[in-house]
Amino acid sequence: MPVVLGDTDRDADRFRFTLADDVAVVDTAQKLDAYLESHPDEDLVVVGPDVTMAVATEVAETYRLRRPHLGVVLMRRRMEVSTMTEALRAGVREVVVADDVEALVGACKRSMAVSEQLRHVESGDSNSRRGKIILVFSSKGGCGKTTVSTNLAAALSSGGDGASVCLVDFDLETGDVAIALQLDPTRTISDALGMQGGLDERALASLVVPYKANMDCLLAPTKPSDAEFVSAALAGEIVQVAAEMYDFVIIDAPPAFTDVVLKCFDMADTYILLTTLDLPALKNLKVTLDTLDNLGFPRTKWQIVLNRGGSRVGLTSDDIERTVGVPISVEIPSSVEVPLRLNEGITVVEANPRHDVARAFAELADKQRKISGAAKPAQVTKRSMFKRS
Ligand SMILES: Nc1ncnc2c1ncn2[C@@H]1O[C@H](COP(=O)(O)OP(=O)(O)OP(=O)(O)O)[C@@H](O)[C@H]1O
Ligand SMILES: [Mg+2]
Repeated sequence: MPVVLGDTDRDADRFRFTLADDVAVVDTAQKLDAYLESHPDEDLVVVGPDVTMAVATEVAETYRLRRPHLGVVLMRRRMEVSTMTEALRAGVREVVVADDVEALVGACKRSMAVSEQLRHVESGDSNSRRGKIILVFSSKGGCGKTTVSTNLAAALSSGGDGASVCLVDFDLETGDVAIALQLDPTRTISDALGMQGGLDERALASLVVPYKANMDCLLAPTKPSDAEFVSAALAGEIVQVAAEMYDFVIIDAPPAFTDVVLKCFDMADTYILLTTLDLPALKNLKVTLDTLDNLGFPRTKWQIVLNRGGSRVGLTSDDIERTVGVPISVEIPSSVEVPLRLNEGITVVEANPRHDVARAFAELADKQRKISGAAKPAQVTKRSMFKRS
């Protein structure tokens, strides 16, 4: 239940209608302080549109250090860049326009998700975990890296075993995880740029965007020019911290051996190496495997996945195995269901779990669980807070 720092009783009714019946409303910073003192589990303060910026920033600054898991969502009558900057600098999690009910509910939900992660981290139950890192790669574009990484992440996080997944979009210039899952890139890897050397679990929890229960995404920058500032060291830190927080870290990659990708090969437990049934893809797979051999990335980590299998295009899976000398681990069939669901912003795994494509991803997920030594995560209690979704 959020607490609202607002002005009038009329506001109170509105917030009760929008957020929750039992939302508490206080009209001064002192009363807010007293309320928070007596409610140590409170995780969210909504600052109403008529509260001055001076008070709003003071509230955010005060609690940022004192109660880091407490989120502050600020409402303003008008959205101005200077207001946004001032607010975010003070530690406000999100700023929304006063009349945009949907934006307010969304911001509150995201803030609660961050708080939940922070509490989870604070309780220390994630520290001993070391999740499994899975890199999805092909040196040829368009082979299905994003399709495989999003569906695999959805399959691993829906397995009923409570496993948590962080999908990291390291296709830094042209990443499409946000589009594939219709996520709002309010936070991206760009926000991690100033954190190199000091990225911790709390920071990462504030950067991920939740997609569904047990599945969060760290999205690629929306400004492609930010890509050059993401160093291999920062990427390594991100992956390391994510592996301490989640059971599985799935990395979607660009179709090239960039420094960031090489760092991921260094750190990953498994490489899902994609190919399709065409000669350029097969040639690229061969070159990839030779490169990995030359660089000493162990064959025990290789998993060849044939995407768009079953297409009658002259080449067969046998041809691929014979050419590269490595067995195919899983075949994902070619189906119109894939682009169809992509355009709906949902994975095939969730939309149509009985479909052959979804079954193939379930098989791929099973293989990862078997190899995985990841510990079962502590169960995170989900609260149902808001009337609208
Ligand atoms: N199994 C499949 N059946 C049908 N279409 C598929 C399948 N897998 C991928 N596709 C389609 O192929 C296209 C490319 O897929 P995707 O974006 O996943 O590839 P990618 O390797 O991530 O591409 P990029 O290198 O550009 O990042 C998409 O339109 C997707 O819908
Ligand atoms: Mg992609």
